[in-house]
Amino acid sequence: MTEISSIDAVQKMLADQGYVCSRALGTVVFLSLRLGRPLFLEGEAGVGKTEIAKALAASLGRKLIRLQCYEGLDASSAVYEWNFPAQMVAIRAAEASGGADKKALQTELFSDDYLIERPLLEAMRPNENGPPVLLIDELDRTDEPFEAFLLEALSDFQVTIPEMGTIKAPEPPIVVVTSNRTREVHDALKRRCLYHWVDYPNFEREMEILTARAPEAAESLSREVVAFVQKLRTEDLFKKPGVAETIDWAKCLLALDVITLSPEVIADTLGAILKYQDDIAKLHGSEAKRILDQAKATMEPV
Ligand SMILES: Nc1ncnc2c1ncn2[C@@H]1O[C@H](COP(=O)(O)OP(=O)(O)O)[C@@H](O)[C@H]1O
Ligand SMILES: [Mg+2]
Repeated sequence: MTEISSIDAVQKMLADQGYVCSRALGTVVFLSLRLGRPLFLEGEAGVGKTEIAKALAASLGRKLIRLQCYEGLDASSAVYEWNFPAQMVAIRAAEASGGADKKALQTELFSDDYLIERPLLEAMRPNENGPPVLLIDELDRTDEPFEAFLLEALSDFQVTIPEMGTIKAPEPPIVVVTSNRTREVHDALKRRCLYHWVDYPNFEREMEILTARAPEAAESLSREVVAFVQKLRTEDLFKKPGVAETIDWAKCLLALDVITLSPEVIADTLGAILKYQDDIAKLHGSEAKRILDQAKATMEPV
């Protein structure tokens, strides 16, 4: 287990990596480390779910192993595969050199040399820096059979390779599972984990994040950007901008030497915050100005 002693310590170590962590998130992270339970983070895209696993690995000095989920992901791509082309070459070579010992060849072909380790197996291997952080990213993209398989792998942290036997993690990895909630993840898997819904940050927290990630932006511009994005999230949009978009947008504005937001600047740079034409179309005409005016009205004078 890790030597982290308090929730404050978790928030501090993540802050050192530029990750702004609310008290509630800090609490589940702390508990997950303390109890050795996987962390299940759900939330809209771009709210900092993937990033927390990276920040956690960096701050604990652990290796980050990422399993990116996608439709059709199966056990062989997640755990291990045999290096079939290399095995073929070895067989050819053995044939060419004449009567190889069949038994020895077979043992050789199914040894570590021909094993391609995928993230789950890699995460079970001993690591000199301690158990790695295993990030199972965007689990909602896979299907239920894979979820069931994962549930089993997460319950005993071991994998069985028929030709080699069972490999068990000496110490369980720190597991972070994320979902963008394009579908519900099964209860059984959630039950195994500590759950946290990662919400959009409020104004103050988003300012902190922006200051950490785009420190070169002037505070007055950052405040306008955050206020505008916060207001935009209350509008009826197909895809609301995440924190990632706020940061991108601020960087775009900086590159354009923008000092303060205007409806014209917003219209020219909307592509940095909205990624669907329907949403962009909604902000044409006087809409951007209306939202900007409302955003400015919510800002306290600096
Ligand atoms: N709390 C936060 N502190 C610091 N940066 C953040 C935070 N939340 C989001 N970010 C920034 O937003 C970007 C997108 O976050 P990411 O973790 O990829 O989102 P998600 O996985 O939820 O879709 C990150 O690269 C990071 O720069
Ligand atoms: Mg992500």
